[in-house]
Amino acid sequence: MFKKLSNKKKTLMSLLMISSAASFAQVEKIVVAHRGASGYLPEHSMEAKSMAYAMDADYIEQDVVMSSDDFLVVLHDHYLDRVTNVADIYPDRQRKDGRYYAIDFTLAEIKGLKMTEAFNIKDGEQTAVYAQRFPIWKSDFKVHTLEDEIEMIQGLNKSTGKNIGIYPEIKAPWFHRHEGKDISVAVLKVLKKYGYTSKTDLVYFQSFDAEELKRIKYDLLPKLSMDIKLVQLIAETSWDETMVYVDGKAIAYDYDWMFKPGAMKEIAKYADGVGPWYPMVVAPESKKGKLIFTSLVKEAHQAGMQVHPYTFRLDEGQIPEYAQDFEEFLDIFYNKADVDGVFSDYPDRAVNFLQAQKK
Ligand code: G3P
Ligand code: CA
Repeated sequence: MFKKLSNKKKTLMSLLMISSAASFAQVEKIVVAHRGASGYLPEHSMEAKSMAYAMDADYIEQDVVMSSDDFLVVLHDHYLDRVTNVADIYPDRQRKDGRYYAIDFTLAEIKGLKMTEAFNIKDGEQTAVYAQRFPIWKSDFKVHTLEDEIEMIQGLNKSTGKNIGIYPEIKAPWFHRHEGKDISVAVLKVLKKYGYTSKTDLVYFQSFDAEELKRIKYDLLPKLSMDIKLVQLIAETSWDETMVYVDGKAIAYDYDWMFKPGAMKEIAKYADGVGPWYPMVVAPESKKGKLIFTSLVKEAHQAGMQVHPYTFRLDEGQIPEYAQDFEEFLDIFYNKADVDGVFSDYPDRAVNFLQAQKK
């Protein structure tokens, strides 16, 4: 069911067996609404964000890409074809690889598309990525900008008196740079415009791209008189999440160093937290009653960083076999692994879990 960590990775990670709750000083644990309440409504739709807000998530996530006319739009992929009808409306605008890139379309064109629950195309037929979720092509959803979403969240903060934060991720900065666009500067300027400038403001700025995060930390934030919390997302090299251009050819960035002893200390020089894939925290070969915890959380905490793993889903096949149900899945991570927050498509369930613990 789960992709196993590679043998090489296993030898690189020192695995710890932990039988009781970790002892790291408690900070308030958080829930990050992953792409909004995306288990219930199409990911990154304004409706999914409103629902996540109403569910009292602590932070709401925005994945951000750029349009051809330099607007920041909230989409998980730098492609439009997994969640919109772009292929029907602009059949001749695909690139050689058959994909429709957001960066090739103006904001007006993107806003004119219909958006839907995520789908795959198999044998020419569209099938929902998650069969039990909101049905594809029903109702009327649109792509929106980062500014639209911040204004909605800040507006709700005013009208409800709550104070819910944002958790933007710059998507594929290497790709944007290759296309002549600086997505980091653009996103930071928007954050500054809306008052997110210091570490005490309710924003986490996340990226899978370590070199870009270092550039942000050491160059861009000082230039913009900002100092916000940064989160290093951790991927498997094989996912091709971050690419590096060598002699004009894109090759996968090698994440292996992030699993070696001392890596968390290294990351802590430029980041305030890490966002690992959850099997990097609880090893996938764990069994009921015999959980295998990696050293990641302990080492991140020792280096002064928070840990927010992704992505907690309760769809079929998404709860690991070592957990009896979604709540045990959350308990293992929040309490036994002692993470500081989780990204979940079902923020209500994580919020309820944490609230029940306080009683
Ligand atoms: O940003 C945390 C989590 O969202 C990373 O995965 O691919 O859903 O952006 P992804
Ligand atoms: Ca993300």
